Amino acid sequence: MAALDLLPRHIAITMDGNGRWAAARGLPRSAGHKAGLAPVRMCIEVCSQRGVEALTLFAFSSENWRRPADEVGSLMGLFIEALDREIDELHQKSVRMRFIGERRTLSVRLQARIAAAEARTAANGGLKLQVAMSYGGRWDIVQAAQKVARDCASGRLRAEDVNEEAFAAHLSLAGLPEADLLIRTGGEQRISNFLLWDLAYAELHFSPRLWPDFTLADLEDALAYFAGRERRFGRVAAPRAAAKA
Ligand code: FPP
Repeated sequence: MAALDLLPRHIAITMDGNGRWAAARGLPRSAGHKAGLAPVRMCIEVCSQRGVEALTLFAFSSENWRRPADEVGSLMGLFIEALDREIDELHQKSVRMRFIGERRTLSVRLQARIAAAEARTAANGGLKLQVAMSYGGRWDIVQAAQKVARDCASGRLRAEDVNEEAFAAHLSLAGLPEADLLIRTGGEQRISNFLLWDLAYAELHFSPRLWPDFTLADLEDALAYFAGRERRFGRVAAPRAAAKA
């Protein structure tokens, strides 16, 4: 199959490099996270305008709890501030916001903001924006397995009927188009426990740019990379002429 879908339907982004960006300027790491808000805004704007259906941002991983308490505290404060400041505009843009991750590990204040943002934007028909917080791909698979096990134990589901579709219905991104482009900034070429199930067939684009420096031109590069890939999903390549038919 040739690359007929030139625009990804679902972009996932690992926003890496905030700490290095700050260190290079002699600033605290929290300044790097704060500077990381500008490219977040840019990506939401561009995805909304171009009709990308879904955007999923990795804001805080299950492993990020191991960072120094002051950095974790300033990140959590930043999430609350950013939500308070941006929610009106996101709503105006008809963005539908959801949060994925182990919510009960977040502060009560942040959980309240998250619930309010989700409720307010639930009926919006624009960009589907997922923010991953206290999220890990393994956690997601385990929590889905627990739900499947409960369904089997209660007789709602038979073990022999557990297939990929039934399983995926319990994952955090259920109901969304599968992520078809992962962008990771900061120069590392790893998945780092992000969307382990959902990235099965995603194109992977690694940018050396540190996240606060990620510009529209860098996003364009990633989109051009995606448009140039031939997506076969395990099939053999079709002749170009046949693909046009
Ligand atoms: C990784 O860089 C980045 C994070 C752990 C935080 C990402 C958060 C933001 C960009 C803030 C805004 C986000 C939303 C959606 C409100 P790093 O600290 O690991 O950088 P390093 O690898 O250079 O140390």
